[in-house]
Amino acid sequence: MTYRVCLLPGDGIGPEVVASARKVLQALPLTWDFVECRIGYDEYRRGGTPLPESTLQAVRSADAALFGAVTTPPNIPDYFSPVVRMRQTLDLYANLRPIRSIAHPSSRPNVDMLIVRENTEGLYAGVERVEEGGDRAITERVITRRGSQRVARKAFELARQRGRKSLHVVHKANVLRETCGLFRRVALEVAEEYPDVELKEMLVDACAMELVRAPEQFEVIVTTNLFGDILSDEACMFVGGLGVAASANLGAEAAVFEPVHGSAPPLVGTGKANPVATLLAAALMLEHLGEDESARRVQSAVEACIAAGQVTPDLGGALSTRETTRAVIARL
Ligand code: NAI
Ligand code: MG
Repeated sequence: MTYRVCLLPGDGIGPEVVASARKVLQALPLTWDFVECRIGYDEYRRGGTPLPESTLQAVRSADAALFGAVTTPPNIPDYFSPVVRMRQTLDLYANLRPIRSIAHPSSRPNVDMLIVRENTEGLYAGVERVEEGGDRAITERVITRRGSQRVARKAFELARQRGRKSLHVVHKANVLRETCGLFRRVALEVAEEYPDVELKEMLVDACAMELVRAPEQFEVIVTTNLFGDILSDEACMFVGGLGVAASANLGAEAAVFEPVHGSAPPLVGTGKANPVATLLAAALMLEHLGEDESARRVQSAVEACIAAGQVTPDLGGALSTRETTRAVIARL
């Protein structure tokens, strides 16, 4: 079996961390057909768009895609974030963010949760306008039954697959009665199909507080786009931060895996970029491909390196991106 994987290095530290993941994937007993595609600002300057149709097509026809990072410069009128656009165009409706304790002094213990964020609608649906000559700005929050249902179902499926006992639906239906009301109602309906997973509810502000107070209480969280964006960034700071935070974007016809961090311009070429976030994104990709054993091996190798202090400076170590990659491969 050969897996066709679309690599989207992007720019900044993207190419460095994607190269690391490529080496780790190649060290596994699997066969890969890597296709490298262009995305980002450099591509915009070259070809007039940061997200060429050929890249979208390559992601669609691959078994999965691994994305690095891109710099999104502000103040360019017709420019758009190719990451947000890719999620919308490919209808990658579920964004998965595993939040797991690491063996590092900065990490809280016993945390092992999965945040499932709706990735295509809500306040990020892109329905905005200005009135009164620009003095009144409006963003519409779009929630649909279909969008809520498919992300809730994905969250319950993942909870069941991973043997989780509970799932929190996080919303603000006491104030946002229509949009959050619909999301909540649909999630509760879907919950009836999963009697083996206990449904819990929490208001988003309470959840932000509870994540700080006792993060270990959460197993799976499902929530709307903006809430999930904020809560998942908040939660990753208890367990190592951006250098180790990975995510998956799943749709019906494509799957894109990526580190949560951006292009980190000051780190480019210094060898200080932590590749672990991208390696854990690659582990999520392996799981998605059904290669659970390889996924576990990558994850365990990364965890062992962290426990042994074989890490980059952001985690207090002295290893470079390449040295960390070699250390992980040695432990595979
Ligand atoms: P950033 O994630 O690039 O950096 C934030 C902080 O984390 C910096 O101190 C950076 O040095 C550190 N950091 C990030 N990744 C790291 C790694 N792998 N190892 C060690 N340290 C790491 O976010 P920032 O600075 O706000 O944005 C920089 C650029 O990245 C912007 O143009 C922004 O638009 C873009 N961006 C792109 C994203 C994507 O491609 N998915 C996501 C977030 C930002
Ligand atoms: Mg974010």
